[in-house]
Amino acid sequence: MRFGHFDDARREYVIDTPRTPLPWINYLGSEDFFSLVSNTGGGYSFYRDARLRRLTRYRYNNSPLDMDGHRIYINDGGTIWNPGWQPAKTELDRYTCRHGLGYTILQGEKNGIAAAQELFVPRGDACEIDRLTLENKTAAPRTLDVFSYVEFCLWDAMDDSSNFQRNFSTGEVEVVESAIYHKTEYRERRDHYAVFWANTPVTSFDTSRDAFCGVYGGPAAPEAVKAGHCSNSIAHGWAPVGAHHFHLTLAPGEKKSIIFGLGYIENPVGEKFSAPGIINKARAEAMMARYATDAQVDAARRALADYWQELLSGWQLTSGEEKLDRMVSLWNQYQCMVTFNMSRSASYYESGIGRGMGFRDSCQDLLGFVHMIPSRARERILDIAATQFEDGSTYHQYQPLTKKGNSDVGSGFNDDPLWLIACTAAYLRETGDWSILDEPVAFDNDVTRAQSLMEHLRRSFRYTHTHLGPHGLPLIGRADWNDCLNLNCFSEHPGESFQITGPSEGPVAESVFIAGMFVKYGREYAELCDHLHLTEEAASARTAIDAVEQATLTAGWDGAWFRRAYDAFGAPVGSRECDEGQIFIEPQGMCVMAGIGRETGQAEAALKSVEERLDTPYGVVLLQPAYTTYRLNLGEISSYPPGYKENAGIFCHNNPWISCAETVLGHGDRAFAVYKKTCPAYIEDISEIHRTEPYVYSQMVAGRDAPTFGEAKNSWLTGTAAWTFVNVSQYILGIQPTLDGLRVDPCIPHTLAGYTVTRRYRGAVYHIRVENPHAVQKGVQSVTVNGAPIAGTLLPLAKAGESVEVSVILG
Ligand code: GLC
Ligand code: GLC
Repeated sequence: MRFGHFDDARREYVIDTPRTPLPWINYLGSEDFFSLVSNTGGGYSFYRDARLRRLTRYRYNNSPLDMDGHRIYINDGGTIWNPGWQPAKTELDRYTCRHGLGYTILQGEKNGIAAAQELFVPRGDACEIDRLTLENKTAAPRTLDVFSYVEFCLWDAMDDSSNFQRNFSTGEVEVVESAIYHKTEYRERRDHYAVFWANTPVTSFDTSRDAFCGVYGGPAAPEAVKAGHCSNSIAHGWAPVGAHHFHLTLAPGEKKSIIFGLGYIENPVGEKFSAPGIINKARAEAMMARYATDAQVDAARRALADYWQELLSGWQLTSGEEKLDRMVSLWNQYQCMVTFNMSRSASYYESGIGRGMGFRDSCQDLLGFVHMIPSRARERILDIAATQFEDGSTYHQYQPLTKKGNSDVGSGFNDDPLWLIACTAAYLRETGDWSILDEPVAFDNDVTRAQSLMEHLRRSFRYTHTHLGPHGLPLIGRADWNDCLNLNCFSEHPGESFQITGPSEGPVAESVFIAGMFVKYGREYAELCDHLHLTEEAASARTAIDAVEQATLTAGWDGAWFRRAYDAFGAPVGSRECDEGQIFIEPQGMCVMAGIGRETGQAEAALKSVEERLDTPYGVVLLQPAYTTYRLNLGEISSYPPGYKENAGIFCHNNPWISCAETVLGHGDRAFAVYKKTCPAYIEDISEIHRTEPYVYSQMVAGRDAPTFGEAKNSWLTGTAAWTFVNVSQYILGIQPTLDGLRVDPCIPHTLAGYTVTRRYRGAVYHIRVENPHAVQKGVQSVTVNGAPIAGTLLPLAKAGESVEVSVILG
């Protein structure tokens, strides 16, 4: 069942009912200021860091769900409704929500009054603009009371939701005409405030939640909205809010707009006040003046549309397969931008106060983003690398505002260092910008100990190479990619962290998955050495890699698939010797992607085992059989009920690894079948089962052991976005950036007759036409570039500004 449809021409997903199975959200903002907005107008806003600079409150896990948001109320003669249905939940005569690229439009209609609420974050400004357009569609004049409402967060979202004894006393506001200033803690150490304004004179306003909602009221039926007016309240402590009220009349057919803005303003320390205790509002006034008229707002909307048009024009697909085209050309790339910006910090499932940016997460997010804005990818790589330690290990997380490593979690996740090689190599393949390797980069954010980025990569490689266990496989540490496989922790007490309890980096437990990574990314490292003429280093790296590859083919092999690991007692994990958890997805995907076992037939066997044992109609589950009891030697993975999360859920992130691996063996049909199973546009029809947004990937879908098989959770912030884009663009459609230029080497379903890709690459634009006249899955028969045949599949590098016509015939 569907709850909306894709509008490809407008690049929107249009939702037809507010009663979606879960809130279906969108992200506004792409640089500093961000808002989340649901299809009923729920959500929240923050500046850069969802934990430390939160502008508005959001209560997760609330009942009813999704009550906090960017609210507009209309009181039409006692009938109270919202353009997006929530929170009053009055039945609307018409409703649509259009989620587009960086904007959302909620349209509601009730008793002949149409209201459109258009939300977006303009380019280059730290604010959200909400334009409300009201239209009287009847033949009689209509008088309405219209209200806006946001609830401020006292900046530090963690403190805001726990330290009530203090923060019930700190809240402060100022009001000047239609501008409501939230200035809690500005009197002391903060030099930033928020402003919630309207471009229209207010009839009344409120800044105290108790006054607006009523102490025992709430956003569903605020006392002020029921009364038809606010009480000009000034908040002193408790809960500061912003609410505007307009008493207005619309003539028959008349349309009126009111422009609201929620802005973040920072002042230089010496210019904080305009008078004792009074905040300096100059910057806020300038911001308000930039969005005072409809023409200005229209221009800002157009600039946003142009920005996205330009960004997406760098990778466009026309294949005749409508669902594939819309995912590749639009939604998958859009999600890659969001994951690049947010990492795993703020979604409807990530509270923004938990875990900052993940080291491995951000490195992988970059793989799907680097072609969009390489300069931002460059900056990110340098930021991430600066949280590495001198021995090559890394912090597991860092805070986006400070860019410092998070010492509560520390290091010891032994896959982390190799992801730095993965993302740097991807950046180099995309840009050819070798200068990045010479950049001096701090260790543990200490600039006095800076070394070149290349030296950082060297230490990443060396860290893995010097941390091998009894079988010659890499030691796992606290966990590898699978955060829940905790082989050294042995946590017995509720509430302890599964990852950082216990002796952590034990000398025995090994990871076959990291072995696969070492082979894949180690080889990429050796190629960088080749390019830098570090011949000896490249050779010795390859010797080390060959040894780990051999260990993987022997100690890492279980007979029909790759084992997952060895635990702290030297017993295999992911083996037929185990009673549960006999086979895991991750090593099959990573090892085959690395080419391990391609010649020996082991790769083929491993993927066959995946298909036989892990495949389901909704995707490939992480392991089988699911763990039914808690295992001290395995940790968090066995803490989840069977079929959920890492315990045999369909963990979408590693499904593309299987799809990529299938292409390594030339299996285009199977690769595409795996791709489609978790691909949002292909499963739109089962939205009632899937429940999360049909335009973006979710982290997890309940596996076949779960009572809710097929139900997704944790939409938006998942490495799935980047990996599926890498999979579909490079492995399946075969447009592959290499260190020497673009290669075209597809592996597609035999039924796909052909497609065209427009790809911007190092400043040139390649128009690539692939034809498949013999219905093959893999194999390039001929390539012509600007009409002339070339040998092989590597396209000659075009100059920036050039446009190149490429024709590829498969066969
Ligand atoms: C979460 C984490 C990611 C990890 C994955 C598997 O998505 O953010 O770092 O790799 O779970 O445990
Ligand atoms: C939990 C989650 C896992 C995530 C980790 C991040 O272990 O199950 O998915 O990677 O938390 O800390």
